[in-house]
Amino acid sequence: MNADGRTRLNQTPEWTALAKHREELGEVRLRELFAADPGRGTGYTLRVGDLHLDYSKHLVTDETLRLLHALAAATDVFGLRDAMFRGEKINVTEDRAVLHTALRAPRDAVIEVDGENVVPAVHAVLDKMAGFAERVRFGEWTGHTGKRIKSIVNIGIGGSDLGPAMAYEVLRSFTDRDLTVRFVSNVDGADLHEATRDLDPAETLFIIASKTFTTIETITNATSARDWLLTELKAGQDAVAKHFVALSTNAGKVSEFGIDTANMFEFWDWVGGRYSYDSAIGLSLMIAIGPDRFREMLDGFHLVDEHFRTAPAESNVPLLLGLLGVWYGNFHDAQSHAVLPYSHYLSKFTAYLQQLDMESNGKYVGRDGQEVDWQTGPVVWGTPGTNGQHAYYQLIHQGTKLIPADFIGFAEPVAELSDGLKAQHDLLMANFFAQTQALAFGKTPDEVRAEGVPEELVPHKTFKGNHPTTTILARELTPSVLGQLIALYEHKVFVQGAVWNIDSFDQWGVELGKVLAKRVEPALTEGADVPGLDASTTALVAKYRELRGR
Ligand code: F6P
Repeated sequence: MNADGRTRLNQTPEWTALAKHREELGEVRLRELFAADPGRGTGYTLRVGDLHLDYSKHLVTDETLRLLHALAAATDVFGLRDAMFRGEKINVTEDRAVLHTALRAPRDAVIEVDGENVVPAVHAVLDKMAGFAERVRFGEWTGHTGKRIKSIVNIGIGGSDLGPAMAYEVLRSFTDRDLTVRFVSNVDGADLHEATRDLDPAETLFIIASKTFTTIETITNATSARDWLLTELKAGQDAVAKHFVALSTNAGKVSEFGIDTANMFEFWDWVGGRYSYDSAIGLSLMIAIGPDRFREMLDGFHLVDEHFRTAPAESNVPLLLGLLGVWYGNFHDAQSHAVLPYSHYLSKFTAYLQQLDMESNGKYVGRDGQEVDWQTGPVVWGTPGTNGQHAYYQLIHQGTKLIPADFIGFAEPVAELSDGLKAQHDLLMANFFAQTQALAFGKTPDEVRAEGVPEELVPHKTFKGNHPTTTILARELTPSVLGQLIALYEHKVFVQGAVWNIDSFDQWGVELGKVLAKRVEPALTEGADVPGLDASTTALVAKYRELRGR
């Protein structure tokens, strides 16, 4: 029994039924499933918005799906979903509502937190962002010396960096190519150095993005950026107002830093950091692509929010994706999940998803405070597909681990490409389709022999197949499609957290390292005696000081 009186997840009849079903299925072969059902390739598909989703290459039958849906019902995934959309404080350990969905709600929506409709404030900030973005884009917002802003540097980390940095790459072909947009996150001074070394400070705008405005990496980098700007411009403190804006929930700290709160774009504690790039945190992106494109992206998010909120379980795409992850993690002992986009523009997509998924569901304590005794979030990893094919796909094809993977591809190349480069798109997508085919169906020893391969090489050239994949296909990569994809993954993560009974919206696991770093720093700089430092770290710190000649 859970501390909250609910039956432990892995003792529910629905879980037990899935475990039994898994045993009965044994080593079910995708070849057999397809042979038994000629309609599987078209039947096991769903659609949401512009996204066509094929889940036929999964190790599931109709019965598996029925049992997974029964588990979702038993764990009341939709009940928690409704509570989230209603603005209830489902982030129990921080006593906060979870309302990133309000960030993309239409103007006339009503969503209340503590009795107050938050939608007007969301749109007021979006409008303020749009006004500012246009002023920068049209050269009306000038720097301290009167020069037009040509470079934007977003300084933030985690959710205050990964989202806009990822989306800027994804939507590069929609950006104003005359603007240079860079993202600095690492407290390693090299990051800021490389981002600013060729910039003219008179033409540079720094966007300091930090929900709390206390994150040491961001404040350190922001302070160094301010020093750089004032030194290079030989200007006084008053120059800051024209070159620094803030994105934060913490007006006090923003003004303490010296940024005029008139130049602060606000968001709220009911927006988690990793769910925030469609809030004010997206300002750099909005400047790059313009407010209209940004709004198209928000509409894409909203479309999938509405689908998740209203579609019946059987056709609910985020629900399906979440449940498939449960199937592999909890009933096949899969440890990781690969996300493999076949688009150069999605190069940072999986890195973004790592925070979204792993910071949300990397928890061993349940919402009731008890340790779980089932697997929770997987290791999420991956890079654009064709590059991966020549690096780590060997392990997915012939290694000893089960790695479920999402393949994301587009029918159209990006419009901006030359005709010659567009012609390469079919080759890219031929790889996309070939890989999921090879992963699913492999190559039998007999097929290998039929090619005349010497017997001693047959085992090496055999592919067992049966590696499950989801294919997500859209016509083209647009701001709306990006919003749809991100909302899809947000809600998939939600579904899994709900099934596992964990709080997907806190992140206590990042705290200890922060505290220890603060404690260790004086040992590095001053050789201070840090009480409680373990023997290994003490020796390493001494070695570090020796190497630095201290
Ligand atoms: O350390 C983790 C974290 O709290 C993330 O959840 C968050 O996205 C990131 O740090 C940055 O936080 P902030 O926006 O408050 O600077």
